Amino acid sequence: MKIAVIGTGYVGLVSGICYAELGHAVVCVDKDPYKIATLQSGGIPIYEPGLEELSRKGVAAGKLRYTHDLAEAVRGTDLVIIAVGTPPLPSGQADLSYIDAAAAEIADALTGYAIVAVKSTVPVGTNERVRDLIRARTDVPFDSVSLPEFLREGSAVRDTLEPDRVVIGADSPAAAERIAELHRPLTKQVMLTDIRSAEMLKYASNAFLATKISFINEIANICEKVGADVAEVAAGMGLDRRIGTAFLNAGIGYGGSCFPKDTRALIQIAGHVEYEFKLLRSVVEVNQDQRMRIVRKLEAIFGGELRGKTVAVWGLSFKPNTDDVRESPALEIIRHLVDSGVVVRAYDPIATPSFRGLFGDGGVVWCDGALEAARGADALCLLTEWEEFARTDLHGLQETMRQPILIDGRNVFKEEDLAGTAFVYYSIGRPSLNQGVREEMPILQY
Ligand code: UDX
Repeated sequence: MKIAVIGTGYVGLVSGICYAELGHAVVCVDKDPYKIATLQSGGIPIYEPGLEELSRKGVAAGKLRYTHDLAEAVRGTDLVIIAVGTPPLPSGQADLSYIDAAAAEIADALTGYAIVAVKSTVPVGTNERVRDLIRARTDVPFDSVSLPEFLREGSAVRDTLEPDRVVIGADSPAAAERIAELHRPLTKQVMLTDIRSAEMLKYASNAFLATKISFINEIANICEKVGADVAEVAAGMGLDRRIGTAFLNAGIGYGGSCFPKDTRALIQIAGHVEYEFKLLRSVVEVNQDQRMRIVRKLEAIFGGELRGKTVAVWGLSFKPNTDDVRESPALEIIRHLVDSGVVVRAYDPIATPSFRGLFGDGGVVWCDGALEAARGADALCLLTEWEEFARTDLHGLQETMRQPILIDGRNVFKEEDLAGTAFVYYSIGRPSLNQGVREEMPILQY
């Protein structure tokens, strides 16, 4: 199949490269000359394990190329995939201006029948809007398909080549079948449905996963007060197949480019049809509060006064194996610490440059290593569960710190890791440890 992918963000780039890996002829288009130049020279403008190698392979095999010329890419193609951004407007509503612009340009470039698929996460009704925009500008026949994307950053290549399912929303059975054929080598779970359900299903999936996270975070907050261990609770809950263990890791809340944006957008979508999505509103609110719990813990440890303290921060990206810092809880946490007069010493294996780009430099000492960040610190906050943190020599770590206080915002360490160290250890929803020994349980009276 000849495929043109419009937009080389996470979704567009990974999809395009993976379709080329399947043997299709793919052109990836972006307006950003810097991105295209990087891609043409064999680089990748994002950090994503395995992607650069696949891109080079596709280009070398003559299956993949990059251009900023949308018209040239769309001419004579079988499938056009719209994968441009839908960033949130101040109201939370998705901004569709990039989608509209792409639709207009595609319409002007179409020379013969093509399928136009939208992979960007878009409000219900957007595929119809795209169809109307194209129809208003051209008589060339085409079919619209909603092709929602479920890949995760950090494991995007595997998620794309071995997806749990592929969802195809279409009103033309022939178009649906062609897109199904394209994906059958990847999974047996190809679901065909109508366009609006496909659009809704993507938001519903992300909102449900976000709900699981906020749910377990609230359970964690209660566990702290009643002396239970949320890791045990989640493990036991997960044994029920109806619940499952996934997305029940308590911590400082979800971030990234999808969950925060898509939950707010779904609240807006519901609002447009005069439905108040009360549950999802709470999910968002709980997530917001959860970020600050680590700051509240620090305040409690230091008797309410953070000014003049030195706090090491490990992890800046919104999750491991990515340099993406969009909506990373670290942004708000570090901002609050700096504003409270704390000297922050921050380290991330790869996300420091992107974090500095968004956060600025004021008040933070950027460090090249985890131990260097911890040097002279009164406390250490772990915000992203990068693998290298779990492998830290805790004895060496405690030597470098002024006070061995560790607040683990991702529940990385276990009780046995702390045994024999001098650490006072706090995590999320689990008992605190003092030198590896559990602190006293709260007395419960009902
Ligand atoms: C998510 C969806 O998983 C993916 O299907 C969709 O296409 C895009 O949004 P992504 O944002 O890459 O993917 O990351 P994901 O691994 O889902 O994690 C999202 C956030 O939730 C991270 O901040 C992570 O730390 C947090 N999280 C995840 C938890 O706090 N606890 C969990 O148990 C799981």
